[in-house]
Amino acid sequence: MKDKFFWGAATSSHQVEGNNTNQWSKWEKEKSGRACDHYHLFEEDFKIAKSLGHNAHRFSIEWSRIEPEENKFDEKEIKHYQKVIDSLREKNIEPFVTLWHWTLPLWLPEKGGFARKNSIDYFARYVEKIVSSIEGVKFWITINEPDVYASKSYLVGDWPPQKQNIFLAWRVIKNLIKAHKRAYEIIKEINPGLQVGIAKHNIYFEAYKNKLFNRFLKKGADWVWNYYILNKIGSYQDFIGLNYYLHNRINWGFNKNENLKVSDLGWELYPEGIYYCLKELQKYKKPIYITENGLADAKDKNRAWYIKEIIKNIFKAKKEGIDVHGYLHWSLLDNFEWDKGFWPRFGLVEVDYKTLKRKIRPSALEYKKIIEKLT
Ligand code: BGC
Repeated sequence: MKDKFFWGAATSSHQVEGNNTNQWSKWEKEKSGRACDHYHLFEEDFKIAKSLGHNAHRFSIEWSRIEPEENKFDEKEIKHYQKVIDSLREKNIEPFVTLWHWTLPLWLPEKGGFARKNSIDYFARYVEKIVSSIEGVKFWITINEPDVYASKSYLVGDWPPQKQNIFLAWRVIKNLIKAHKRAYEIIKEINPGLQVGIAKHNIYFEAYKNKLFNRFLKKGADWVWNYYILNKIGSYQDFIGLNYYLHNRINWGFNKNENLKVSDLGWELYPEGIYYCLKELQKYKKPIYITENGLADAKDKNRAWYIKEIIKNIFKAKKEGIDVHGYLHWSLLDNFEWDKGFWPRFGLVEVDYKTLKRKIRPSALEYKKIIEKLT
């Protein structure tokens, strides 16, 4: 028998649910508003996922719904997420649940958010509440891409709270690492059989022409971006969630990508990169799930090709002994792309934001064929 491979797609609460009240919804620049109204339409969306052959689905729980006021948990909202999980389970779709995908209840930024140490206790309390209340989840992802959050919100300053301070960014990283470790311990104490990891945004850094200096720069970039957090987390993870989007061919500190194909956001589409990222993660000796990978492609012109090539590369790595067990495409639905708003279209399923109508893109059907072939 072939070992079970998880096939599916991913979303995050603030990007699809609609009507959230968190630090993003209060931010003047871009608002997610009603988004896809997935909060009400999840059943319909999961039926679509099922019809596309998915047997796994990643989504996130919105902390601001669960704990809108400090230490006051909303049982109604916990029930809502239980229904979401039950709906997946009824369809034999394995839930991969993210506890934190970047959005904060409003009381938390007022206290300094993850730049302050006490955030670790707040996060731990929220995690304990959720994991002990919810049934039917085996795979928990504590934190989505701590590095991307810290750099966008505290270093580059594109996202709220728009700080540009390397020391703050560093502190946020440190606190997120500690928050993850605490969450890991809490979850394992509730049930040691649960599987816990983070979703890590890794970039394939390539040394151009394999030149010595470029190799040296690659090593540094790998250490800072790809491995620092994973090394610190060490044994506090049962699996690695890999989010792969980017390739950076390094030449004397400059990017020398060929950009033969790019997404609507201008990101190079480089499917071979996932093979190298997987190989490079082998040293951690943990099972790996691709928890995100995808492209903004409104016309759906590259998506089918990209998915096919990505899966080819995953299976090439798998054949060479890499312990990879799942592929969750980003995203099931078109959604709110943070500071870019709604124009980037990442969905296997197109969303008409006026009517909320869903329309399956041709690439989603190509993905379905691959799933059927490999299952
Ligand atoms: C994030 C998603 C985002 C996607 C595309 C990932 O880094 O986890 O929230 O939509 O990239 O930019």
